Amino acid sequence: MTKYNSPAALLIDQFSRTITYLRLSLTDRCNLRCIYCMPRDDEDRDGQVKTGKFLNHSELLSYEELLHVVRLAVSQGMNKLRLTGGEPLVRRGILDFIQQLFLLEGLTEVRLTTNGVLLEEYAQRLFNAGIRQLNVSLDTLVPEKFTKITGKDRFSSVWDGLLEAKRLGFKIKVNVVAMKGVNDDEFINFARMAVEQPFQVRFIEFMPVGDKSTWQKDQFISSEEIKVLISEVGTLTPFRKSHGEGPARMYELQTPGGQKGSVGFISPISHHFCDQCNRLRLTSEGKLRACLLNDRETDLKILLRGGASDAELIAIIRQTIIDKPQGHALQKEFAVRERQTCSGQMSRIGG
Ligand code: GTP
Ligand code: 5AD
Ligand code: SF4
Repeated sequence: MTKYNSPAALLIDQFSRTITYLRLSLTDRCNLRCIYCMPRDDEDRDGQVKTGKFLNHSELLSYEELLHVVRLAVSQGMNKLRLTGGEPLVRRGILDFIQQLFLLEGLTEVRLTTNGVLLEEYAQRLFNAGIRQLNVSLDTLVPEKFTKITGKDRFSSVWDGLLEAKRLGFKIKVNVVAMKGVNDDEFINFARMAVEQPFQVRFIEFMPVGDKSTWQKDQFISSEEIKVLISEVGTLTPFRKSHGEGPARMYELQTPGGQKGSVGFISPISHHFCDQCNRLRLTSEGKLRACLLNDRETDLKILLRGGASDAELIAIIRQTIIDKPQGHALQKEFAVRERQTCSGQMSRIGG
């Protein structure tokens, strides 16, 4: 492959942010139907989603195409990759794909965001393939509520997956979407989990995003409110640096008996982090998207399948980065119109 030089400067956007992190949504399909993400009428038979509402296989970028894009992005200085979905583990061939990714020189991190349903089955092979960090989405610790939120009775699978991943030595972040009236009565239990388990438990402010979202203003609860709720479990002490370098603000939750994990807050609404954003997204249908909350996208799939050269593709990647929006207007929208600023489907964008 052609080598492209002087990469680093090319990945700085017009607002001086260095873009080093690419998120790939490998599929829009999922084995759950979370209330805020997918409608129940996309119901499946035997775990197979109905076609029509989901992308056909040919509409997804193939692994070969994905590798091509990642290789070009890495040649320009991107060094971290996150695999998301939908549920990335439902896409066949993902383990071989991960192995191929680890062969790319310059890619220092490959991480995975999963709902955990298939984790017990996949954990060992993910570890063998080279993954060391997992983000697991889990909004409740009550099995019956899990079924209500996700539409599937799979709490124990997720829990067993988490324990297996812990046993194997993965670094684990648990993502909890905070929803008033849905799981706010459990924040204390999640905080206790961060004390008892070596997990980073991160509370995420519920965002009004996605065309399938059931978001309502009265379900929103801010990170500050969550901090007050969980402070009875221990003393919150911020980590000195932005621990883990992501959008989460991380805290130690100190208790007299010590603590194994930590807690974090992802606050896109009350305290947005756009000025530090280092991300670019590739949707499952092959569109480059510079901001989760801005629908502007560039169709890479058309270019790839139309025979665009590496130089042309690199130019598109660079331009998308340069044009990356400064930030989102969620707070304004939140107050004024209470409607979505991102109409794309979360499972295609990859969160
Ligand atoms: P690491 O820092 O590598 O752990 O990644 P991450 O925290 O971004 O990954 P994850 O996929 O677990 O995302 C956690 C939550 O943060 C999800 O709800 C995402 O939607 C949200 N999030 C991640 N990146 C952004 C972003 O750029 N903007 C906004 N508004 N939300 C984001
Ligand atoms: N607001 C906040 N987080 C969300 N996620 C999905 N939809 C939303 C939303 N509307 C989370 C998932 C997962 C991550 C990738 O994004 O729960 O943890
Ligand atoms: Fe699946 Fe994640 Fe969407 Fe839930 S939020 S339905 S786990 S893609």
